[in-house]
Amino acid sequence: MPTKLEARRVGIHYRRQRSGESLIAVDGVDLRIASGEFVAIVGPSGCGKTTFLNAVDGLLPIASGSLLLDGREITAPGPDRAMVFQQPSLLPWRTVTGNILYGLEMQRRAGTESRSTAKRLVELVGLRGFDDSWPSELSGGMQQRVNLARALATDPELLLLDEPFAALDAQTRETMQQELLRVWNETRKTALFITHDIAEAVYLADRVIVFTARPGRVKLEVAIGLPRPRDLRMKREAGFVEYERTIWETIREEVLRSEASPPAAVA
Ligand SMILES: Nc1ncnc2c1ncn2[C@@H]1O[C@H](COP(=O)(O)OP(=O)(O)O)[C@@H](O)[C@H]1O
Ligand SMILES: [Mg+2]
Repeated sequence: MPTKLEARRVGIHYRRQRSGESLIAVDGVDLRIASGEFVAIVGPSGCGKTTFLNAVDGLLPIASGSLLLDGREITAPGPDRAMVFQQPSLLPWRTVTGNILYGLEMQRRAGTESRSTAKRLVELVGLRGFDDSWPSELSGGMQQRVNLARALATDPELLLLDEPFAALDAQTRETMQQELLRVWNETRKTALFITHDIAEAVYLADRVIVFTARPGRVKLEVAIGLPRPRDLRMKREAGFVEYERTIWETIREEVLRSEASPPAAVA
């Protein structure tokens, strides 16, 4: 498969407001994601996962290295990428359909076929019959389904998901994991999914990338050889648990290492 996203020694810094010194959030990330692949990034809290994803989305500039989407340098947000955040942040004055079409309208791509696009997406994410509902009438899980449909509406090349299920209760979360796989199976969008939930990463991804503690770098890559389609029962199987254990131990090592050392900063 051709490469969809390539990061070469990507470094990302933040300038601190008060002191003016910069903080190295991401330091030399190398990774390659093939077209159609589902990759999850896990790592200790504060290791730069969100920072890296924001750079891929074009919201943050990189300080060093290069970040290429379909071989072209990422410099700004674009219609070829769509982000799904933890908070669905739907527009309360728009219906489900209105929210799903919002991105298309912003990109001036809404047309006569938009309503059928929205209808198809509402069904895809399992919300048939809720087209005209208001966000306030939906549960957290349903709102996150709308959020996913909204991201898919612009037909992006790359789907970016930043802990999209972190705010959901455990049962809804597992349902949404299963739903996301079903949707992904139908669309086969290249997906970069961030989570701190190891089981979630193993269940969803073709490959799990473990970041080091800040500054984030790739510490481990694990190809997940579990067959698809995947069922939630798989989470109890020995092979699954073994992947989980390997990744857990790597993250644990990083947490202990970072607790023992002061934050890295440059003047
Ligand atoms: N806007 C910001 N300004 C300064 N520092 C930031 C900013 N956002 C994040 N950071 C710092 O960068 C590091 C990585 O943050 P983040 O990417 O949010 O981590 P993660 O998503 O892995 O939990 C953290 O140490 C965090 O405090
Ligand atoms: Mg984060």
